[in-house]
Amino acid sequence: MVEEYGIYVKGKWVKSSGEELFDVVNPANGEVLARFPQGTREDVQLAVTAAKEAFPKWKATPPAARGQVLLRAAQILRERKDELGKLLARENGKVIAEARGEVQEAIDFFEYIAGEGRRLLGETVATELPEKFAMTVRLPVGVAGLITPWNFPIAIPSWKIGAAIISGCTAVFKPATGTPILGARLVSVLEEAGLAPGVVNLVTGKGSVVGDEIVTNPAVAVISFTGGVDTGREVYTKGATRLANVGLELGGKNPIILMEDADQDLAMEGVLFAAFGTAGQRCTACSRLIIHKKIYDEFLDDLVEEVEDLKVGDPLDPTVDVGPVKGKEQEEKILGYIGIGKEEGAKLRCGGYKLTGDGYDLGHYIRPAIFEAKPGMRIAREEIFGPVLSVLEAASYHEAVKIANDVEYGLSSSIYTRDINLAFRAIHDMEAGITYVNAPTIGAEVQLPFGGVKSTGNGHREAGTMAIEEFTEVKTVYVDYSGKLQKAQIRE
Ligand code: UN1
Repeated sequence: MVEEYGIYVKGKWVKSSGEELFDVVNPANGEVLARFPQGTREDVQLAVTAAKEAFPKWKATPPAARGQVLLRAAQILRERKDELGKLLARENGKVIAEARGEVQEAIDFFEYIAGEGRRLLGETVATELPEKFAMTVRLPVGVAGLITPWNFPIAIPSWKIGAAIISGCTAVFKPATGTPILGARLVSVLEEAGLAPGVVNLVTGKGSVVGDEIVTNPAVAVISFTGGVDTGREVYTKGATRLANVGLELGGKNPIILMEDADQDLAMEGVLFAAFGTAGQRCTACSRLIIHKKIYDEFLDDLVEEVEDLKVGDPLDPTVDVGPVKGKEQEEKILGYIGIGKEEGAKLRCGGYKLTGDGYDLGHYIRPAIFEAKPGMRIAREEIFGPVLSVLEAASYHEAVKIANDVEYGLSSSIYTRDINLAFRAIHDMEAGITYVNAPTIGAEVQLPFGGVKSTGNGHREAGTMAIEEFTEVKTVYVDYSGKLQKAQIRE
């Protein structure tokens, strides 16, 4: 029996107003894991109304008490880390160690942001007048629309939901259609943790229906979206027409620069993890490796050997390095880019084909690929979101940075060098929201801001203390205790 879900509104799982369902399929073997409703606009409207009704009471709940719910939820997640990790590996296809790590990321974020409920910092500022007091406070924006991707089905929802509810917002959450089970589990955990009905509501379904209704519904005051750049642009534009707050986290084409003085063994491990971990399906995945020409041949030859040794297979097998890619559409897109790379004249050094036979037939497995590419090529500029690494050669640090920056995106970046001056120069020079020194492009921690520059985002950051900025408005408060009318600016 395949488990069938409804939509979650006002603290209850109920039937969608539509009849249609879609299957959630394990990308490793085609097994149908669950069925979810193709939600309708009416479903979203119901969820928005529930969120709107729950808002005044949630806004009035002290932030520390909101945090208590998140702490209890973190505890429940911790108790279920094994079960949820396995389920995540089956739903998304990432290998079990990474799946467990992702559940841990949700636990970490809930614990971290719960503490923010004891701060929600404002400023106190001096005033120009006597017997007057000035400060800022943070107040929740209202109903938040949260739209999340399939590549981090519990961690990214935890960032958005955690930040929204600690801020006092209520939410309508649309998990990706590829991975709604973990989203649904997260919502149920929040319910068990005592979250009041209506504070978080969940509707699954198409972006063109459910997503669009969330983005265009006038009662949704803030939208937080993680996904592709084209959809992000549409979300931003539609949100802008009604002056909603919109926070975007979009694509990446994240470079690692490898200088000639780097610790090459360390860099090797980092590149393998960042480029082929999660089958390259992270916004932060390294998809470009820029190697200094002095060590180019030597490092690349070793890298090819290492990549040929990577074990591709069942994500639940702890000896596997790379799991399947998420579904047919993803597989076709990635293989399409491999074709483009070949046509562009990039040299395919290894992998780049669909694996068949041997238990692979029912899933979507691609042998990790390395291309020797040139900066102008599409495979070196566009986000592929798969186990495909473009390697580029640079004659100097300056050329390496120029190549690194010469793309549309700017999420994560990295440099491997032992030269402290160069490391700091790279922190200044690399156009990205995140720069790592002597570490790979993936593995951001929850207590620091996460997000990118250029087409990766629109200035917002998730995680860290900045997470609450998206979901709160600053109110400036003046208290005049002089008992008389005092006029700022007017001196004579
Ligand atoms: C993403 O790929 O969208 O830094 C999120 C990392 C993870 C989060 C990635 N902590 O790789």
